Amino acid sequence: MPVTLEDVFAPIGNELGAVMQLIGTAVPQDGYLYEVCAPLLERPGKGIRPGLFLLSFRMMVPDCSLSDVIPLAAGLECIHWASLLHDDVIDEAKTRRGIPTVNATYDPTTAILVGDFFFSRALHFLADCRSYVLESVAQLLLDLVSGQVTEQRERGRYRLTEVAYLHLIGEKTARFLATACALGTMLAGAPEEIVASAENYGYSLGMVYQLRDDLLDITGDGRMLGKETGMDMAAGIETLPTIRARALAPEKYYQAVAAISTRGSHAPLQKLLWECGALGYTEDLARYYAVQAQKSLEQLPPGEIRGQLGLLLRYVELRE
Ligand code: FPP
Ligand code: MG
Repeated sequence: MPVTLEDVFAPIGNELGAVMQLIGTAVPQDGYLYEVCAPLLERPGKGIRPGLFLLSFRMMVPDCSLSDVIPLAAGLECIHWASLLHDDVIDEAKTRRGIPTVNATYDPTTAILVGDFFFSRALHFLADCRSYVLESVAQLLLDLVSGQVTEQRERGRYRLTEVAYLHLIGEKTARFLATACALGTMLAGAPEEIVASAENYGYSLGMVYQLRDDLLDITGDGRMLGKETGMDMAAGIETLPTIRARALAPEKYYQAVAAISTRGSHAPLQKLLWECGALGYTEDLARYYAVQAQKSLEQLPPGEIRGQLGLLLRYVELRE
């Protein structure tokens, strides 16, 4: 049976619905901003960050109402939306979540401003949080931007090492999921070692997520993913599979890269990635992080929610 996010988030489904509703009501209902945001609100995305935060909180206090922490969950999701709106401008992406991006429908300036709008809303939602929460969120933002800046700096230079790449995706993706888990447990009053295990679980889960995302950019079906594939290499962005291929077969690699820029042909690179074992290597590393996530999970309190976090790990591992 395939795992769905609906199954994963079932114990906090109503609360996650409330988060998305809160974000919806935070967009002024009349005027241009609403017109631009309406398609995003209709397809709000997977909700992994607020979902992880709410599940982590609920794991510590099973019978407690989550209404006090809904704004924080909404703040995390708004930061994520802001980062994706900006990312789609950077990547010149045409589709996300199966619909045209704001930069494609309108223009990059509008997309940047809508991203700024969601970022501003995030600050509203976080305004009442305690200082350690704000410090955590500030650090996660610094990491997010740092990962993205490194990606930009390295674009088209073909010199990123595996270690540097893993650090980059740690900053760009894994830290956000780690922070969501850490904040959920922390706010629920969990002891330090539980917070650390939840954070480690979120980090490893994020690494699996991004490595799978990088594989899907090469092997995935754009219609199922709701976004174009093959985008990373076309933009000169190396990910683990291509970094590995460059190390194993540099001559063939540079020929394949040249085929993309001169003829727009991805076939030679695809062939090389399959043949040299770079895809298998990336799958193995994703599996390694999945084992790390599972180990951290085993340090968390047993029960229904821990089971759901295990299910989320399976969802991320099996995602097509
Ligand atoms: C998607 O990655 C993008 C990110 C994980 C982070 C983007 C971060 C920024 C643009 C920094 C600015 C941040 C704020 C808060 C405004 P991807 O391109 O690998 O995945 P994709 O294929 O889904 O686009
Ligand atoms: Mg992108």
